[in-house]
Amino acid sequence: MNKDILSKTAKAMVAPGKGILAIDESHSTCKKRFDAYNIECTEENRRAYREVLITAPGAEEFLSGMILFDETLRQKTKGGVAFAEVLKKKGMIPGIKVDKGAFDLALHPGEKITEGLDGLRERLTEYKALGAGFAKWRAVITIGAGIPSMACIYGNAHALARYAALCQEQDIVPMVEPEILIDGNHTIEKCYEVTALTLKTVFAQLKEQGVLPEGTILKVSMVLSGKACPTQSDVEEVALETIRCLKENVPPNLAGIVFLSGGQSDEKATAHLDAMNKLAAAGGANKLPWPLSFSYGRAIQSAALQIWAKDRMAVDRAQKAVVMRSKLNSLATLGKYDAALEANLSL
Ligand code: 13P
Repeated sequence: MNKDILSKTAKAMVAPGKGILAIDESHSTCKKRFDAYNIECTEENRRAYREVLITAPGAEEFLSGMILFDETLRQKTKGGVAFAEVLKKKGMIPGIKVDKGAFDLALHPGEKITEGLDGLRERLTEYKALGAGFAKWRAVITIGAGIPSMACIYGNAHALARYAALCQEQDIVPMVEPEILIDGNHTIEKCYEVTALTLKTVFAQLKEQGVLPEGTILKVSMVLSGKACPTQSDVEEVALETIRCLKENVPPNLAGIVFLSGGQSDEKATAHLDAMNKLAAAGGANKLPWPLSFSYGRAIQSAALQIWAKDRMAVDRAQKAVVMRSKLNSLATLGKYDAALEANLSL
């Protein structure tokens, strides 16, 4: 483990004004997104769509990197340049999703455990050779009647720590992602409680496995009310509760924290991040030891996918959409977003 390489890469991922675009959908998730527009989920369609995002001119001003799926890391532009090369030439860091997905947790109905540790060391060696500088592993925690169980939280936290250690062994920055799902009718208080317990458990496990915090990025969901909860918390409350939960449960020497959008609207995902960074910039109790940024998938891609789906020739417009959304999120990392800017998004 080279601590300098790890902390340098991790810092670059959350450099001021920069965040990450997640385009690492598995084939089944990609199919879901494509199905909404009747696009066939073929290898070539996935490649063509990802080429639009990866080659978007100017995205590098707002994005430090993109997370790719195994297939995507091996794909090239129509002109024959490897996607990882395109990103590197633009100064962005290619990342790779390395888990094998979330499967039913034995003896625990309704809960998931993320698989993928078998053979991970060898896969990481290959991903490194293909240009990956960081690697993501997503654990899924569901809130419902009597869940999550400690078995689910602990099992997933342990796997996250084992994967993170394997990454750092090869100087690849782990992007540790425990996602508490937004689905359900739970309150923001319940989300806080589950997020806190999950983070506590994850960081205890990371410590136990010897993972270097300075070379690690946390990717997490925000503390908010479940989608079906009758009382929806406002932007200010989400920002305050998320900050409070992170400050109580995340070690201060961690390199940085990025959020997933998790089914929030584009505007909400940006507004929440901005509110947190405005609070942090104001100092006092909300001052933060780490940069707070984004690693959104849907909340950055949705407008671009819609444009491209309707007209495959409208690559320019789709690219402008992805860059504009990245720009608004970049402003949110600095606490400088203004909802009025949404009105200028005439696409
Ligand atoms: P969303 O922002 O669409 O939730 O995706 C981010 C991600 O990478 C989830 O693993």
